[in-house]
Amino acid sequence: MLMMFQLCQVMVMISFSSSITLLSSQLHPGEVEALTQIGKTVNEDGQLSLKFVDRCQSGRVVETEPTSAGNSTIECNCSITDDNYCHITSFLLKDYSLPGRLPPELANLTHVQKIDFTRNYLYGTIPVEWASMKNLSFISLAANRLTGNIPGHLGSFTALTYLYGLNLNLESNQFSGVVPPELGKLVNLKTLILSGNKLVGTLPEALAQIKNLTDFRVSDNNLNGTVPEFIGNWTQLQKLRIADMPGPEFQLPNVTIRRDTLVLRNINLTGTIPENAWKVETTLDLTFNKLVGEIPPNTIRRRQFTFLSGNKLTGTVQDPFLQNSPNL
Ligand SMILES: *[C@@H]1O[C@H](CO)[C@@H](O)[C@H](O)[C@H]1NC(C)=O
Ligand SMILES: *[C@@H]1O[C@H](CO)[C@@H](O)[C@H](O)[C@H]1NC(C)=O
Ligand SMILES: *[C@@H]1O[C@H](CO)[C@@H](O)[C@H](O)[C@H]1NC(C)=O
Ligand SMILES: *[C@@H]1O[C@H](CO)[C@@H](O)[C@H](O)[C@H]1NC(C)=O
Ligand SMILES: *[C@@H]1O[C@H](CO)[C@@H](O)[C@H](O)[C@H]1NC(C)=O
Ligand SMILES: *[C@@H]1O[C@H](CO)[C@@H](O)[C@H](O)[C@H]1NC(C)=O
Ligand SMILES: *[C@@H]1O[C@H](CO)[C@@H](O)[C@H](O)[C@H]1NC(C)=O
Ligand SMILES: *[C@@H]1O[C@H](CO)[C@@H](O)[C@H](O)[C@H]1NC(C)=O
Ligand SMILES: *[C@@H]1O[C@H](CO)[C@@H](O)[C@H](O)[C@H]1NC(C)=O
Repeated sequence: MLMMFQLCQVMVMISFSSSITLLSSQLHPGEVEALTQIGKTVNEDGQLSLKFVDRCQSGRVVETEPTSAGNSTIECNCSITDDNYCHITSFLLKDYSLPGRLPPELANLTHVQKIDFTRNYLYGTIPVEWASMKNLSFISLAANRLTGNIPGHLGSFTALTYLYGLNLNLESNQFSGVVPPELGKLVNLKTLILSGNKLVGTLPEALAQIKNLTDFRVSDNNLNGTVPEFIGNWTQLQKLRIADMPGPEFQLPNVTIRRDTLVLRNINLTGTIPENAWKVETTLDLTFNKLVGEIPPNTIRRRQFTFLSGNKLTGTVQDPFLQNSPNL
């Protein structure tokens, strides 16, 4: 009898202490409310059941049915403020075929740093409400059905204008209109990916301000004009992709690509290939231009992919690897 009593006491204590833990690590009530609304907005026709549950500690804030569906990684931090509440810091719902709109209510999750809705069927545009999110430094909306102009209000996104190392990926949507000059205000952008949309016009001069870009991609749009001179001032570039951009003939500015990828396909380039271009490490694609001159010796071997066809390059190719390269 005595032993039973002791056991009971222990159980009570355990449940008491675990409920204490729960109390001090709950998701903020305002965020729970916002999550419910976000669920409705992204999942308008309700085919997919997206249940938000308050279990910040276990890392499972969202439960989905069917369970085999996409990747949901909703992260919280229970010590980001001293209000004894947990706050969502990262919101990722990838590969869910979500049919709704981008949720303006995401702005109520004020501590979110990363938004990722890659590969859904979300339509509409980027909510202006998100502009207020102070630590938002990563937005990927790639492969959705977003339409209209790329909103100029992106240029007033609080965090995007002052945090360093920002990423903005709008690839493979149906954005139309011009590349908004307001993007030039995002001077701390590291990655700007706009490829695979229906953008028109020329690349705006204002982009010259974004000097620390490491990855810039605008291929597969309906842009025209030339590659602006200022690209030569982007000294941190590791990847540059511009393709199928009709316009007057022009000579390539002296671009600096520190590593990786230089794709300038079918953009009416003339002149010789600048020295710097040969230093690219992974992919060099300058096909369908009007480039002239010789390919310097020993410049192909070190790279995984080199594409130079559709030009007027001349001379004897010295590099034996070139003749055998399947990637040329
Ligand atoms: C989001 O925050 C605004 C203002 O702070 C509030 O009026 C609104 O009800 C909140 N929405 C949700 C869904 O929590
Ligand atoms: C979900 O996506 C994140 C971020 O891209 C990745 O780190 C993680 O491995 C993915 N999880 C699964 C189960 O695929
Ligand atoms: C949570 O936020 C605090 C305060 O900003 C930070 O020091 C800590 O590294 C964060 N924890 C995680 C897991 O990110
Ligand atoms: C933003 O991040 C900083 C540094 O991690 C942190 O101190 C601050 O509390 C965060 N603010 C919000 C609104 O999350
Ligand atoms: C670019 O990065 C350097 C550090 O690498 C920094 O000093 C500079 O302020 C940054 N420029 C802008 C416009 O953010
Ligand atoms: C780009 O196309 C527009 C409309 O088709 C045309 O008016 C403009 O002159 C073109 N600009 C350049 C630089 O080719
Ligand atoms: C490149 O940067 C230099 C120095 O900051 C500046 O004088 C020049 O105008 C810039 N070139 C272009 C085309 O923006
Ligand atoms: C390339 O430039 C030439 C001369 O400026 C022009 O006649 C031709 O139409 C241009 N081609 C394309 C595809 O833009
Ligand atoms: C291009 O830039 C490199 C250094 O980044 C320099 O060595 C070379 O002289 C420049 N070429 C021209 C034509 O300006």
